Amino acid sequence: MSTQITTDRLVLRPVEASDAARIADLVNDPKVYRMVARIPANQTVAQTLAWIAGHTAGREENTKHPYAIVENGELVGVTSAHRDSTWLPFEIGYWLSPDRWGNGLMTEATEALVGWLKQRGERGFVSGYLDDNPASGRVLEKLAFMKADRIKVFCLGRGEMVGHVNMARID
Ligand SMILES: CC(C)(COP(=O)(O)OP(=O)(O)OC[C@H]1O[C@@H](n2cnc3c(N)ncnc32)[C@H](O)[C@@H]1OP(=O)(O)O)[C@@H](O)C(=O)NCCC(=O)NCCS
Repeated sequence: MSTQITTDRLVLRPVEASDAARIADLVNDPKVYRMVARIPANQTVAQTLAWIAGHTAGREENTKHPYAIVENGELVGVTSAHRDSTWLPFEIGYWLSPDRWGNGLMTEATEALVGWLKQRGERGFVSGYLDDNPASGRVLEKLAFMKADRIKVFCLGRGEMVGHVNMARID
């Protein structure tokens, strides 16, 4: 069961259907969707609701833990752990509203998420970043992820294959 996680500056709480319009608005910024592999350009509120609809079952199955990052009562981003089955490591993904970049917020939020997963017995985590997104690579480096591989992934928001660095952390 997902619960609320608090940090010095942030509250992380499960994403809810009522967040759909705000999330769709924020991810429609090309500075966000072009840097994330699985968010299309022009994601609609309906598509966002469909994404949120799968979360309840995922939380119960321990395969999806998407958290809204809330700063001063406002949703400013999402940090998420997901996997296809419980015998796999969680994959960590995240995005933040561009007007909040550069303040250490994503490192703070995702460190708290990984800490919460560790308390639940998780020991392995994977993530990664597109070649032209060194800021995300730096977040993962600060969170003790190590480079594991280089691949190409299809970036939905760009509609093309893009170089990607896979990273992993084992505790
Ligand atoms: C990546 C992202 C989440 C970072 O959020 P943030 O809150 O600004 O991250 P933090 O402030 O915690 O850390 C960013 C780090 O990257 C560094 N950085 C920023 N731009 C950089 C660049 N062009 N090259 C290298 N490092 C850079 C910062 O200096 C900081 O490192 P430092 O603390 O050692 O100085 C945010 O930019 C974002 O949402 N981008 C769009 C979506 C995205 O990329 N999601 C991740 C997909 S893998």
